[in-house]
Amino acid sequence: MTMYDIILKKREGKALSKEEISYFVKGYTEGSIPDYQASALLMAVFFKGLSHDETFLLTDAMMRSGDIVDLSSIEGVKVDKHSTGGVGDKTTLIAGPLAAACGVSVAKMSGRGLGFTGGTVDKMESVPGMRTSLAAEEFISLVNRAKLAVIGQTGHIAPADKKLYALRDVTATVDNLSLIASSVMSKKLASGSDAFVLDVKCGSGAFMETIEEAKALGEIMVEIGAASGKKTIALVTNMDRPLGRGVGNGIEVMEAIETLKGTGPADITELSLRLASHMIFAGGAVASPDAGYEAAKRALSSGAGLDKLRALIEGQGGNPAVIDDFSLFPKAARSVVVRADTDGYIVGVAARDIGIASRRSGAGRETKDDAIDLSAGVVLHKTVGDFVKAGDSLAVVYGNDEARLHEAAAVAKAAFLTGPEKAAPTPLIHAVIAGF
Ligand code: URA
Repeated sequence: MTMYDIILKKREGKALSKEEISYFVKGYTEGSIPDYQASALLMAVFFKGLSHDETFLLTDAMMRSGDIVDLSSIEGVKVDKHSTGGVGDKTTLIAGPLAAACGVSVAKMSGRGLGFTGGTVDKMESVPGMRTSLAAEEFISLVNRAKLAVIGQTGHIAPADKKLYALRDVTATVDNLSLIASSVMSKKLASGSDAFVLDVKCGSGAFMETIEEAKALGEIMVEIGAASGKKTIALVTNMDRPLGRGVGNGIEVMEAIETLKGTGPADITELSLRLASHMIFAGGAVASPDAGYEAAKRALSSGAGLDKLRALIEGQGGNPAVIDDFSLFPKAARSVVVRADTDGYIVGVAARDIGIASRRSGAGRETKDDAIDLSAGVVLHKTVGDFVKAGDSLAVVYGNDEARLHEAAAVAKAAFLTGPEKAAPTPLIHAVIAGF
């Protein structure tokens, strides 16, 4: 078997066998297959597609490329949540504590920011002292004690995905259904939880732009999860505009805290409750997602969810005083206000542009090895449906580098679309695909 033959076969649109897929994943992970051949295969896959069977085989080979975590010493059903990547998406820091407050064990492995999207691990590191890399025993004992721990993915989990994702990022082969499904599910299946709640983002600020594409992605991920004996559910959710008002690392953790105090934006509160409801149901604490929703609402209003976030911060070495004192978060030295040029209704706030503006302000990485500015980001003052007058503040961009801030502010400004009439509200959740 040669890599040349495998590339040619896929270029001609033929289905690859289990042996060919395993040969590629193993060889690329070990380094015997060079980037240029892997890139050629990824591009052939991008144009010719993978069948369901090939997607399952690719997921399985990637899952087996590294360690498979054993979480059996954590009591009960272990639930994880995963988003396919969004802008302003801090729901893990809200839904996780709410589900944990309802008695579900949340053993969450999260990622860092990718492209214009943010990552929970970067966000958590804005809390002074917070550790996101815990040894397996500490992770397990924290979940047993506090019901909740959130750590970064170790290099030993699905290393094939780590290498392939970095290659896809620079070869324009990220936004392919089979490649996303195998990337997400290989990591999730290797990370040892029993149930997965997947948030499949859809819209201009997501890798899947149409509802049909996002549903197809959700369906295949749910099928892969079910075939592996895991309870899996996917919510297809709107990512045309940023979630909530804050985008950036410390900025998003502060908004998550406000949401758990009951004073967060309506969209982020509702989406977090809905995600938590499915986590609580999947964890076996209630008999239906509706009962999970009621339980999550009670955990929000009683403050039990906020207590779980405090326990998470304390358990991972962070300073829990941040919950009541936002001055303890890293503070940006500079800010630029973005103002409206004309009167009118805001009819769109392009999520992708706000994500790019946030990254430019310093909140994300522009090259793989960039350090990030935990204080940087964008706070929206206006959103879809608001009426603005010329000169009103639309947003503030925070950071520490004056030149970058002005560039970021120009990108953020272009994200706002105004019109003479109020736009009809778009649904927050387009579909729920349940695999159990
Ligand atoms: N998130 C992932 O983990 N992988 C992808 O391919 C896309 C989003």
